[in-house]
Amino acid sequence: MQVLTAWNTPVGWIVKMSPSFHADWPSYYAAVSIQPPRHTLIRTLTLFERERRLDAQARSQPEARESRKSEATSARVLRAADLGCGNGRDTILLLERGWQVLAIDAERQAIATLRDRVQKRARHTPNLGQHLTTQSCSFADIDWPASLQLINASFSLPFCPPDRFLGVWQAIRQVLQAGGWFCGQFFGDRDEWSVYDNVTSVSRSELLVLLQGAKIIELEEEEYDGQTATGTPKHWHIFHVIVQFPKATSGEILTEC
Ligand SMILES: C[S@@+](CC[C@H](N)C(=O)[O-])C[C@H]1O[C@@H](n2cnc3c(N)ncnc32)[C@H](O)[C@@H]1O
Repeated sequence: MQVLTAWNTPVGWIVKMSPSFHADWPSYYAAVSIQPPRHTLIRTLTLFERERRLDAQARSQPEARESRKSEATSARVLRAADLGCGNGRDTILLLERGWQVLAIDAERQAIATLRDRVQKRARHTPNLGQHLTTQSCSFADIDWPASLQLINASFSLPFCPPDRFLGVWQAIRQVLQAGGWFCGQFFGDRDEWSVYDNVTSVSRSELLVLLQGAKIIELEEEEYDGQTATGTPKHWHIFHVIVQFPKATSGEILTEC
C-alpha cells in the first residue's frame, strides 16, 4: 500500500506526497456502456447457484427437512451489494438473477445512469427497480445493512484511499453472512496506478493477509501492458478474486499491511 513519508527538517514538517489519481468517470461510463458484466461476478453467481441447488437437494432429504426449515425460509431473499457500481453492468445482472441489490458509487452520474438503465428494462422485466436501493457516497461512508450474502466490487476497491481501505475491508467482512461471498479486483503493487496516494494496491502476500480465514475459490493474477477503457496506455497488475467467508467473529482484528 502507498505510504506517506514525512521527515523533520529545520523549517518544520515536510510531507512528501505522491500525486493523486484524478479519474474522469463519466468518460469511463461512456466507454464501457455496452460492456457485459464482469467475469468474476458471472462465475460467482454460477458457483453460488450451484451451491444453492445442492443445499436444496440436501434439505429435501427427510432427515434434514425439519432442522433446516427456518434456514430455508431466510435463504429465500438474496441480498447483495455492488461497490463502485459504475453504470450498473454488474448490478443489472444481479437484479435479473433475482437479487435485492444495494448499489453504491461516489459519482452521482453512476447512480443516475444505473437507475435509467433499470427503468428502460422495466418494459421487459417489470419490478426490477423494486429490488434496487442505491447510495451515492464513498466506500468509507456506506450505511451498511445488517447482513449480505454477496459483495461485488469490480475494479472499484483500488480507488478507496489507503487510509480508509482497511476500515472498508473490515466492514465488508463483518457484513457478509456465514458463507457469504466476495468477488472483485485488487490492484497489485506493480500496477502503474499504484504510485498515486489515493489508490490502494497490494502485493500478493498483503492480499493473502486480507483474505485470511476465507476460502479462496479463485485467485487469478494478471500483469500486462495494455490500455484503459478510454484508450490510454497502462501497465496493469490485477488480482481477480472470488472468496467465501466464514461468519466474522466479533472483535476480529485485521493485520495492517
Ligand atoms: C473503474 S470503475 C468500475 C465500475 C464498475 N464496477 C465496472 O466494473 O465497470 C470504479 C467505480 O468506483 C467508483 N468509486 C471510486 N472511488 C470510490 C469511492 N471511494 N467510493 C465509492 N465509489 C468509488 C467510481 O465512481 C467508479 O464508478
